[in-house]
Amino acid sequence: MPLPWSPSSWREHAAAQQPEWPDSAALDLVLKQLATYPPLVFAGEARALTGSLAAVAAGEAFLVQAGDCAESFDTFSADAIRDKLKVILQMAVVLTYSSGVPVVKVGRIAGQFAKPRSSPFERVGELDLPSFRGHMVNDIAASADARLPNPERLLTAYHQAASTLNLLRAFTKGGFADLNRVHAWNQEFVASSNEGRRYEAIANGIERALRFMAACGIDVTSEHQLHQVDFYTSHEALILGYEEALTRQDSLTGDWYDCSAHLLWIGDRTRQLDGAHVAFLAGVANPVGCKLGPSASVDEVLALCEVLNPDRIPGRLTLVTRMGAGAIEAVLPPLLRAVRDAGHPVVWACDPMHGNTFTSGGGRKTRHLDHVLSEIAGFFAAHRSEGTWAGGVHVELTGEDVTECLGGAEEILDHHLGQRYETMCDPRLNARQSLDLAFRVAELLRG
Ligand code: PEP
Ligand code: CO
Repeated sequence: MPLPWSPSSWREHAAAQQPEWPDSAALDLVLKQLATYPPLVFAGEARALTGSLAAVAAGEAFLVQAGDCAESFDTFSADAIRDKLKVILQMAVVLTYSSGVPVVKVGRIAGQFAKPRSSPFERVGELDLPSFRGHMVNDIAASADARLPNPERLLTAYHQAASTLNLLRAFTKGGFADLNRVHAWNQEFVASSNEGRRYEAIANGIERALRFMAACGIDVTSEHQLHQVDFYTSHEALILGYEEALTRQDSLTGDWYDCSAHLLWIGDRTRQLDGAHVAFLAGVANPVGCKLGPSASVDEVLALCEVLNPDRIPGRLTLVTRMGAGAIEAVLPPLLRAVRDAGHPVVWACDPMHGNTFTSGGGRKTRHLDHVLSEIAGFFAAHRSEGTWAGGVHVELTGEDVTECLGGAEEILDHHLGQRYETMCDPRLNARQSLDLAFRVAELLRG
């Protein structure tokens, strides 16, 4: 008989992608401390997100999960949080207004601090250094010292996540996300672009609709859905000691919740069926995600569904496919068919970023918006052919005017990449490219 699940039972399994902490006593001390800290989210909120995702699984809503590849300790500011939230709200407005489908909003934010790496070492200039694993683990500076994992960073990550979440709650519940402010979300550098003008037209439409409702005698001030937004947090549950320390038993239900975020996901590199990440997330009651790259077989995916959602709770499991634009139409349909025929009520989301990364002529890691949009189109086509619901998108973006991904209506070319290339990890869409993407997805949803 296997032992019952506990927050520490992942320790019986092989855990991929864990840092080699130089001082295990120091790590233990930090984890003990974290275990005494207040939870960042509440079980009831995680349950509410499962409920919203159940609507996505049923084909009645659409998921937008978006944010940084890796959040940074260095560029932590109210403006950066606000601008990221603005873009996600704008995308949601475009999608809801143009397609009539409600949008579930989840940020890769307030905890997205750890990165899996393809190699434990990387070449930086003339140096071979331990890889940067996210600010929760080590620093990106090019020295052996900076790259040494430091458990104090887990505490910094917790505190930064707490402050970020605090501001997000204030913004989304305190008036900033009010539908009367749709114009104000359009940042200056976006407003003057093609995408910004298309967005402005929608914002005008919403303003007119609100005035119309008020003129009809509807009390628009008392409808809280018009003035507040439900916004959820998520990150890759990579550093399992941290996740374990924030896992708490819900006093209402007795279930365990990982209270570091509303939704946690398993990366493509850590989805081994007998591995620690799957073992850990199998036992928490949060909604969970699992990335699926092109190597995921039908048998693996069905087994993941069984382990992660044995009770087939709608909204519990989101499968995030990241196949690459060239592969998706061949590899996705057999998975859709198998999961559908097995009766698993999953959310299918498309990550059109991670299968489309390449090195530009100038030597920078980039992605082309055309490939990103082409993977999304392939995702919708595969769902259409299998009669399943293309449930959402999962993208890496920032609210800032960066030049990290190529393409877009205001085209970013190879020689522009150096102008504002600021990501610590993967290249992100800027605000205009993100809106571009939302308009394209809205067309596919209508189609
Ligand atoms: C990521 O989402 O940043 C990531 C590393 O993705 P994947 O696990 O799909 O490679
Ligand atoms: Co990434």
